[in-house]
Amino acid sequence: MAQQQETGVFRRDFSKAPVILSVDHISKSFKLPTEQATGLKQAAINWTRGIKGFRRLNVLKDISFDVHQGEFFGIVGRNGGGKSTLLKLIS
Ligand SMILES: Nc1ncnc2c1ncn2[C@@H]1O[C@H](COP(=O)(O)OP(=O)(O)OP(=O)(O)O)[C@@H](O)[C@H]1O
Ligand SMILES: [Mg+2]
Repeated sequence: MAQQQETGVFRRDFSKAPVILSVDHISKSFKLPTEQATGLKQAAINWTRGIKGFRRLNVLKDISFDVHQGEFFGIVGRNGGGKSTLLKLIS
């Protein structure tokens, strides 16, 4: 199972080990409130103008991966990239 590369680093092939975590086409978006209508009249005006009280923030789009038994995995990305959101969905 273990293969020594020219670099002296051992690489293992985990592809035949059982899958212990499977993330299958996960997406997540948040509804962020924008301007709040101050009353019924304003709400009606906003509605006729097509102004919605929220906008959608698409954080995760169609994420899929498997983790096999024995494998280590990490999630890397910029601030606000969605790492914590992904971990929450997994948990
Ligand atoms: N409950 C929530 N409601 C609205 N927006 C959210 C919520 N949780 C996270 N977000 C937004 O989703 C995006 C991803 O956030 P997340 O915390 O998952 O990123 P992160 O990769 O963990 O960031 P960091 O490196 O700063 O820890 C950010 O734009 C964040 O503002
Ligand atoms: Mg985080």
